[in-house]
Amino acid sequence: MLDYDDEAAEYDRTRGGLPRADAAASALGALLPQQGVVLDLAVGTGIVAERLDALGHRVIGIDLSTGMLRHAARRLPGRVARADATALPLPNDSVAAVTAVWLLHLLDDAEPVLAEVARVLRPGGLFLTTVDKAAAMRPAGALPPTRIPSDGCALLTALGARHRLRLSTATSFLGHGQARPGYEDPNYPVLGFRLET
Ligand SMILES: C[S@@+](CC[C@H](N)C(=O)[O-])C[C@H]1O[C@@H](n2cnc3c(N)ncnc32)[C@H](O)[C@@H]1O
Repeated sequence: MLDYDDEAAEYDRTRGGLPRADAAASALGALLPQQGVVLDLAVGTGIVAERLDALGHRVIGIDLSTGMLRHAARRLPGRVARADATALPLPNDSVAAVTAVWLLHLLDDAEPVLAEVARVLRPGGLFLTTVDKAAAMRPAGALPPTRIPSDGCALLTALGARHRLRLSTATSFLGHGQARPGYEDPNYPVLGFRLET
């Protein structure tokens, strides 16, 4: 995995900036409940979470990188914390929704995150996550992945079911500025899993 403390200063500029964040937030926001807290896993610099907040959602965020969190803390003062997505500092059944944009593809195994998501979500709550990031990048000129992706749609659907997270909805957003020269911008799929009641 990249060292996101090193990436933090250039992250927004090199990851599509506000156009990418707006596209992600409007895709997620259209599916999120208007009531209750939304936990953004891997909030990063907060660029997507801030846009979700601007759409009227009550967003809190966690991330492992203090460098990334320094930016997020300016965007969402008092609402971000350093934590691992596999050990969330939140009580059971405490949030209405969880989001994860560009997290699960970084992990060796997404299942510990799914287990934590299922623990902190209220029954009926929604987990929205980007999936199949490497496959989405192929039309944008990226090389094939060198390992089985940890964010594959079929894999997450199977692992989610172990934790009572049932596939329920889907959307996508445009990764503005993410293509190699001469290629088209990628469209990133997002799946929604609902926690059984
Ligand atoms: C590609 S960035 C995505 C940031 C943000 N979601 C966005 O879309 O702009 C990945 C982020 O995941 C964070 N991260 C990686 N592993 C993590 C973990 N186990 N728990 C929490 N955050 C993690 C990194 O520190 C980094 O900020």
